[in-house]
Amino acid sequence: MRNETFDTNTTLPDKAVLVSLVTNEVKRSGVDSEHSLNELVQLAETAGVEVADVIVQNKETPDSRWFIGKGKVEELKAAIDALEANTAIFDQELSGAQVRNLEEALDVKIIDRTQLILDIFAGRAKTREGIIQVELAQLSYLLPRLSGHGKNLSRLGGGIGTRGPGESKLETDRRHIRGRITDLKQQLDEVTKHRTLHRKRRKENGVVQVALVGYTNAGKSTLLKQLTAADVYIENQLFATLDPTSRAMELPSGKEVVITDTVGFIQNLPHDLVASFRATLEEANEANLILHVVDASAETRDEQMKVVDRILDELGASSTPQVILYNKKDLCTPEQLQLLPSDENHLKISAYDEHDLQMVRQVIQDRLTGDTVTFRIPAARGDLSSVIYRVGEVLNQDFEDEDLLFEVRLNQADYEKNSYLLKEYEVHA
Ligand code: GTP
Repeated sequence: MRNETFDTNTTLPDKAVLVSLVTNEVKRSGVDSEHSLNELVQLAETAGVEVADVIVQNKETPDSRWFIGKGKVEELKAAIDALEANTAIFDQELSGAQVRNLEEALDVKIIDRTQLILDIFAGRAKTREGIIQVELAQLSYLLPRLSGHGKNLSRLGGGIGTRGPGESKLETDRRHIRGRITDLKQQLDEVTKHRTLHRKRRKENGVVQVALVGYTNAGKSTLLKQLTAADVYIENQLFATLDPTSRAMELPSGKEVVITDTVGFIQNLPHDLVASFRATLEEANEANLILHVVDASAETRDEQMKVVDRILDELGASSTPQVILYNKKDLCTPEQLQLLPSDENHLKISAYDEHDLQMVRQVIQDRLTGDTVTFRIPAARGDLSSVIYRVGEVLNQDFEDEDLLFEVRLNQADYEKNSYLLKEYEVHA
């Protein structure tokens, strides 16, 4: 059950001026602030906010009181008044004090990028797990900023958000939030245990698992739907998918595998959030094969791929076999397509092209089931026999001299992980 007092899932305001501060540190870090700002516009629109204007300031370091310079605050105020906006959304994280100062000076709601993402996630969470994860991330974000939020907090639910709460009230609120966080963590633990059990059972039953990962809006849900003919929630908005959705998919051979959609990745995904969604993303970690869906037509395609690779790496999933699906090829120019690699690990597809879908199914099958291989294992090596049973489907088993002969249909993805153990025992015809 959600706690009413801290219900942070609210309707967002409708008209906003977006603000980005480009500091020397931002420039040094190599972050493309223009791309980040474009993405903020998209995020705001996804949240149902009308973007009235965008303001950028170049400044050596952030102002400790206002984040942007005092003069820029005045410029922002003028823009807000002229456009009748009721919100300012900042592309970078603000401290509690900066939020309070800006709120007082501008008399509009102040939101930063993280909060905006959290709000979108909150609106999208569908399963119990997703709802708990988002609330946990929201409260963890809120806690250290509590003293800074004045009016802004009232937006986040009744009770805790009166302007300038007294210290004792603040302490009570903090205690309540900490209690709620503990409670949510326990609930999440339970749900995670269930999910892990479920996944383990699938694994024990020999169910082969494929995970769709990719930058938000790459086309994962569309592909899941197209590949499985399932009724999945699709929307041309960021983060349409928050909870993983698993569906059975039939391969050309008739064999069924389970294919799972995961939450869309995004640059600067707040760290708390990555932690909160870890359980969900673990689907990718456990998969036999990862399909990395890329919006091939996106201007920032390469950056998006890097973000996904980095997050997979953080999750410990970077060694899982991967096929890259360059999706939305129908939106690409022939020149763009020509520059993309094309082999058994890189496919150029459109999620709406039946021929391409069949190619994807075939590649999944090839990567997962592979060929029939014979191994000659010394009878004393029981350890290797069990590896064989784990990575393949034993079609035939025979004795010859002191050796065991196995005829095995290999799950290629699993075999790749164990091939260093088995390679020398392979019998080549
Ligand atoms: P998140 O849930 O935000 O992570 O997004 P997603 O990766 O699941 O993307 P989704 O499947 O919701 O697709 C996003 C948009 O891209 C939708 O409007 C789709 O119709 C569109 N789309 C997906 N694949 C293709 C394609 O091959 N060609 C074209 N033209 N549009 C596509």
